[in-house]
Amino acid sequence: MTETSIKKIAVLCSGGDSPGMNCAIRAVVRTGIGAGIEVFGIQKGYAGLLEGAIRELSVSSVGNIIQHGGTMLQTSRCPEFMTEEGRREGANILKRKKIDALIVIGGDGSYNGAHKLHMEHGIPVIGIPGTIDNDIDGTDYTIGFDTAVQTAVEAVDKIRDTANSHARTFIVEVMGRKSPAIALKVGICTGAENVILPTTNIDFKKIAADIDRGIKRGKTSSIIIAAEGEVEGISHSIQKNLKEQFNLAAHVCILGHIQRGGNPTPTDRMIASEMGHVAVKALLDQHKCSATVFRNGKVMMAPLTDCLRKKNEFDESEVNLLTALSI
Ligand code: F6P
Repeated sequence: MTETSIKKIAVLCSGGDSPGMNCAIRAVVRTGIGAGIEVFGIQKGYAGLLEGAIRELSVSSVGNIIQHGGTMLQTSRCPEFMTEEGRREGANILKRKKIDALIVIGGDGSYNGAHKLHMEHGIPVIGIPGTIDNDIDGTDYTIGFDTAVQTAVEAVDKIRDTANSHARTFIVEVMGRKSPAIALKVGICTGAENVILPTTNIDFKKIAADIDRGIKRGKTSSIIIAAEGEVEGISHSIQKNLKEQFNLAAHVCILGHIQRGGNPTPTDRMIASEMGHVAVKALLDQHKCSATVFRNGKVMMAPLTDCLRKKNEFDESEVNLLTALSI
């Protein structure tokens, strides 16, 4: 580490919460204090910054949070920070409090705010990827994804029990907006008969034929995993189509926000802790506009500009695996 002018830093969470955010906050606070700098927590994301909801965090203020989902700092989506005026106000507040740099834990929207804050006002910023959707460009992993997948897999396993007992078909809707990541992984891990991805046209004929084939070879249940996509109501529309076109009855279960809560898995705790630690070290090493990323199984730093886009492409090999195994 080189000589640094950084004396005070702040950390906030922005956008949807994700399990593991607390681990990252804890790592930022303890690494910062261990390096002799003051660390401030900003409550409720950029909205809290604009309200001046900023307090100094101590080593013990982040004790006993590593195992909890959600975020002790709370979070928000803040339209005001999307405006130049909002960011100027935020920069002024940070400068008045003599805060030298900002760490933002969130998704691509939060990163875009941080990037503009740096470009317009010169404030050093570091992003830590926190979203269950695993949809940030430039990083293979975002904090919370593993926990969300685990929660959804546990739920689908339970639904499978009852589906088997009653010989039913279920459509289980998972989160992820335009991202196919949760749906694909949950589909593979639960042995789903079909997975509907947000980017593909729905082939109802194939779904009906798959269910029929399953029944003929003695299957007593079918699970269709549906990625929620951007338009509400996808599962009920699939249900309606199957009924109307093929007289196939299916039950709908929308998992919703249970996927965002719960104790982070060891994978999320580990990656979040390392990312929080590395983020502070990067600031002390003079990084001005970077993000922690997970590439080839390692946490490292990358330019924030690598990570500003949403990543919605699916992993072709996962689709092939799903197709090969769901016959
Ligand atoms: O980005 C995380 C996420 O949980 C998406 O998967 C989901 O579409 C969205 O947030 C829901 O947002 P909100 O909690 O604001 O309804």
